[in-house]
Amino acid sequence: MPEGENQPLGERVTNRSQPPRSAAFKEFIGSQWAPRSEQLPARAEVAEAAARRRAAISAKFPGERLVIPAGPLKVRSNDVDYRFRPHSAFAHLTGLGVDHEPDAVLVMEPLAEPAADGSGHEATLYFRPLAGRDTDQFYSDPRYGEFWVGPQPTLEEIHAEYGIATADLSELEVAVTKNAGNRALGGVQVRLVREVDLNVDALVDTSRYNTGVDLEQADTQDAALTEALSELRLIKDEVEVANLRRAIAATVTGFENIIRALPAAKAHRRGERVVETAFFSAARTEGNDVGYETIAACGNNATVLHWIRNDGTVRDGELMLVDAGVEDDTLYTADITRTFPVDGTYTPVQKRIYDAVLTASEAAFAAAKPGNRFRDVHAAAMRSLAESLDSWGLLPVSVEEAVSDEGGQHRRWMPHGTSHHLGLDVHDCAQAKRELYIDGIIEEGMVFTIEPGLYFKEDDLAVPEEYRGIGVRLEDDVLITADGAQNLTAALPRTTEEIEAWMAELAG
Ligand code: GLY
Ligand code: MN
Ligand code: MN
Repeated sequence: MPEGENQPLGERVTNRSQPPRSAAFKEFIGSQWAPRSEQLPARAEVAEAAARRRAAISAKFPGERLVIPAGPLKVRSNDVDYRFRPHSAFAHLTGLGVDHEPDAVLVMEPLAEPAADGSGHEATLYFRPLAGRDTDQFYSDPRYGEFWVGPQPTLEEIHAEYGIATADLSELEVAVTKNAGNRALGGVQVRLVREVDLNVDALVDTSRYNTGVDLEQADTQDAALTEALSELRLIKDEVEVANLRRAIAATVTGFENIIRALPAAKAHRRGERVVETAFFSAARTEGNDVGYETIAACGNNATVLHWIRNDGTVRDGELMLVDAGVEDDTLYTADITRTFPVDGTYTPVQKRIYDAVLTASEAAFAAAKPGNRFRDVHAAAMRSLAESLDSWGLLPVSVEEAVSDEGGQHRRWMPHGTSHHLGLDVHDCAQAKRELYIDGIIEEGMVFTIEPGLYFKEDDLAVPEEYRGIGVRLEDDVLITADGAQNLTAALPRTTEEIEAWMAELAG
């Protein structure tokens, strides 16, 4: 093995320690382990729902091979990875959540005849199963080895739990490329969710190149699969709604932690971090993680829409805006914002601004019902905010002009959207067609946020001084039912009076 400057850079990661290489060591470390349990796990509750999701996507792409990767481990820095989180389309179609399964790929193989359940595809999950104790992987692989990261499931275990056929990752290449080619010439057309796993992209691209498939056309076809998988998530099934309810319940716990941590936050030079970490403890103890970086913003920082530095102080007399969501172990996330007074009581001007946001939220809730368009929810909130701003003399034009296509002046103080779909991704269904998203009709089973806000920056000369340095957002997550918007986040108070009472109670 070359040493010194002749040693390739890629090998130097092993310089800090090396396992023994002797045959005696390998034999010894591979021996004297208790046998593994042969009991297979029970069928997961999500298995049937995931099968229905696969059947729906199968029906859209008859006769084609569909390839949906989970994605690889991602490097944070040098040889340290982030915790693994599978791609959302993969999680949706398999039901697999936390930690499952780096480098795995779901392949849906078209069937000549429909299966007993009517599906036109057979799904197989390719992954790296638990390696035996007699392999190098067991003790010497810090990314995948059981000694380092704990045991992976076996092929049989995943099959039993999720009801999907399984195969070793080493069989993936043949499964993806066999008979692949131009459909018109008798080949099997392959569609891939691209840019999730670059190794799988390369595998498919090489196969396409070798079989004369038009790469540009294939790219368009791949995009249609990604789009369809995103649109499949526009309506949540019962399992998904239950997952979201759990994520929301954990998020409520996180907000309660925050209120209890306020004395410590006020005493610390980076009080916003105290708030952020009070929430994070609920995220990790009750769920998998935060679904996105927590925004813990006091005073003027609340007017910075993506304030995630969270290194400011927390001061009496100011408003604290917290936008946070727990991601459940199933990978579904909540997305909630509350804006509360650090000292427990809103000042009159803070209350005036808060109430305008609350009124806009109520207008948006009223518009969030089946048959309306998604864009109507935003329009209702915008008109309401424009009316409030006009009543305070802040709009340079009439309300009608402001809300017209030629206006938009009110958006100076509310530049973001009012709603986005919510689910496995905080901004869920992001690849859905415009006609089904912002221009789409609201349907039962949709889950989205309602999150109007007003943000008056400290250097905004277009507003009176007393408004400056105040940012307010109120964000709830709603489930659309036949009756309209059911507020899934109603366990957290919304009005100033309710919030003050809630804070007083938690302060004990
Ligand atoms: N926290 C991200 C959002 O509200 O959209
Ligand atoms: Mn949101
Ligand atoms: Mn949010």
